[in-house]
Amino acid sequence: MIYLDNAATTWPKPPEVVQAMADFMINMGGNSGRGTHSASIQAANVVFDTRVELAELFGLKNPSRIAFTSNATHAINQALVGLLYPGDHVITSSLEHNAVVRPLKALERYGVSVTEVSGEPGNEFSLEHYRQSFQKNTKCVITLHASNVTGTLLPIEEIGKIAGEHGVKYIVDAAQTAGVFDIDLETLPIDILTFPGHKGLLGPQGTGGLALREGVNLKPLIYGGTGSLSESENQPDFLPDALESGTLNGVGIAGLGASVQYLRSLGLHVIRKRELELCQQLIDGLSEIPEVKIYGENNALNRAPIVSFNIGSLDSMFVADRLDQVYGIRSRAGMHCAPHAHRMFKTISQGVIRFSPSHFTQSEEIAEAIQAVRNLAKEFERTV
Ligand SMILES: Cc1ncc(COP(=O)(O)O)c(C=O)c1O
Repeated sequence: MIYLDNAATTWPKPPEVVQAMADFMINMGGNSGRGTHSASIQAANVVFDTRVELAELFGLKNPSRIAFTSNATHAINQALVGLLYPGDHVITSSLEHNAVVRPLKALERYGVSVTEVSGEPGNEFSLEHYRQSFQKNTKCVITLHASNVTGTLLPIEEIGKIAGEHGVKYIVDAAQTAGVFDIDLETLPIDILTFPGHKGLLGPQGTGGLALREGVNLKPLIYGGTGSLSESENQPDFLPDALESGTLNGVGIAGLGASVQYLRSLGLHVIRKRELELCQQLIDGLSEIPEVKIYGENNALNRAPIVSFNIGSLDSMFVADRLDQVYGIRSRAGMHCAPHAHRMFKTISQGVIRFSPSHFTQSEEIAEAIQAVRNLAKEFERTV
């Protein structure tokens, strides 16, 4: 089996992750922040250690400014609902995942207005368009860091500066870049970073979170027990408790702590270099097949580790199915939960096939995947 769907969720995970999760289940098992017995304190220590790892990874001095969620979508919803009130205006991009598109659509029904800065293939963003989109009531800008359809990187530093000049908050959806690129809130003008734990951070599914710059306050998305100030009917207003009601995913957070430790000891630059090589190998190999059209830039440097393509006019789902059933290659086809991006790339009916390697992928596996695409292009020569 060749796994090329790391943009959906990474696999395999480092063995340390599995070990940490088993250790939590077998030897700890208490509920973090709920009681003073040693199993609860052990769990709280694991959760705290993971917070520290993530805060150091994202350049935050105070680990309390990391709040855990169950995935990136949950974190994005928390950021938007936490910041916006009726009458507020938001600026976003035309590459966004439904994790941003749908909460914004829902918020529009509550009186929030949205401007989507449109682009076109090869010119997916224009800073000038962002500048022109600000209104008196603009409260925040939200964009992804890299498209999950083409891997295209957005100039988050420049967009963040423009947001800062207008005194509005900048939310970055780092679903495709956290754990691969250095994202340092000390140097980058990002107010809220939302991240999944289960993609580039190599942690288990069911994990994610927000990294909040000092001074950013959000109203909670959900309210409830936190193990703190239990005598009060009101939600604590301090972080992370304000945003973390209910029992945390202790076992998942244990795994996430181990994966971030693994990443930091290996070095993100090592991961990035390896994935760059694999992506360039994919782009170069697929470009040699005449029937293949690759979406996005041909230089892997300008992409997250994602390469999307089509074979002539063949349905992308059909191709992905053949890759899986005949060649044992796991890819992702269709819309990738990003209909606006597909509209821009004019692939809304065909979709695209997405290959996304991780640093665990072997270059022999990439060569096999390219050969499989070549075979399919030949097999369906007459139809494409
Ligand atoms: C750009 C982007 N944002 C958000 C998400 C949602 O992530 P999650 O499934 O962890 O909620 C994804 C998932 O693929 C994504 O690619």
